[in-house]
Amino acid sequence: MAVLAILAIATLAPNAHADARGEQLYRNCTICHGPDARGIPLQLAPALSNLSEKYIVEQLKKYKSGIRGAHEKDIAGLRMLPMSQTMLTEEDMQAVASHIVSLGSSPIEPTLEGGDPVKGKTLYATCLACHGPDGKGNDLLNAPSLIHQHDWYQLTQLKNFKDGIRGGNPQDITGAQMMPMAMMLGDEQGMKDVIAYIQTLSK
Ligand code: HEC
Ligand code: HEC
Repeated sequence: MAVLAILAIATLAPNAHADARGEQLYRNCTICHGPDARGIPLQLAPALSNLSEKYIVEQLKKYKSGIRGAHEKDIAGLRMLPMSQTMLTEEDMQAVASHIVSLGSSPIEPTLEGGDPVKGKTLYATCLACHGPDGKGNDLLNAPSLIHQHDWYQLTQLKNFKDGIRGGNPQDITGAQMMPMAMMLGDEQGMKDVIAYIQTLSK
């Protein structure tokens, strides 16, 4: 019993430390992403609570190195890039990501109009290989969850991928995988249709 108790303390202590660090670091993020990490539209900041720890860390690294968010036309990305500089170490990125995941996610009200979820379902057939039939993403393929996310943010991201504003940096391997997908959707209508379908998965 005594041995078990010591083991429990030994394994708990570093985690408790990381949690405290993650919570402290996340205070720098709340002004844009909100205390619950559900995002703030006026700040152009997406929800983070739907994302996996791995994806959050990878994106923070990309912003920090300028692989994402540095394009001159990336208005939202340029707001996030300086924030990523506050994350000095990979350990800090892990800690803040773990804190964000611990907040839990929930559905977010749609704002876009004119998307046809029936047409979107057909288009989504291409997406499910990576993002999953349930839209929850797949860490092994680096594909993020698409549910419980703001629809306006997703539209901006699809346009950014299509125009190479996101994913266009030669060092952005995972972003480059997403670019042809956004191109395949064609115009804004196709993007709105697939997003309308993704919204039905978020219920
Ligand atoms: C000044 C406002 C602001 C602050 C503060 C801020 N962010 Fe952001 N963040 C944004 C915006 C705007 C975006 C969307 C950028 C884009 O379109 O690429 C974003 C995007 C992100 C993304 C990418 C999400 C995705 O789905 O790909 C992550 C991860 C992120 N922020 C984490 C953080 C963390 C962690 C902090 C605190 C250390 C933080 N942000 C602080 C504005 C902010
Ligand atoms: C080959 C795998 C693959 C396919 C197929 C795919 N995606 Fe992606 N998607 C990714 C990856 C990888 C990322 C993350 C890119 C990065 O690291 O910046 C991503 C990112 C995204 C994002 C940004 C999410 C965020 O939080 O910033 C959206 C939106 C998205 N995909 C929608 C779609 C849609 C809609 C389709 C179908 C038309 C699709 N994807 C098909 C791999 C894929």
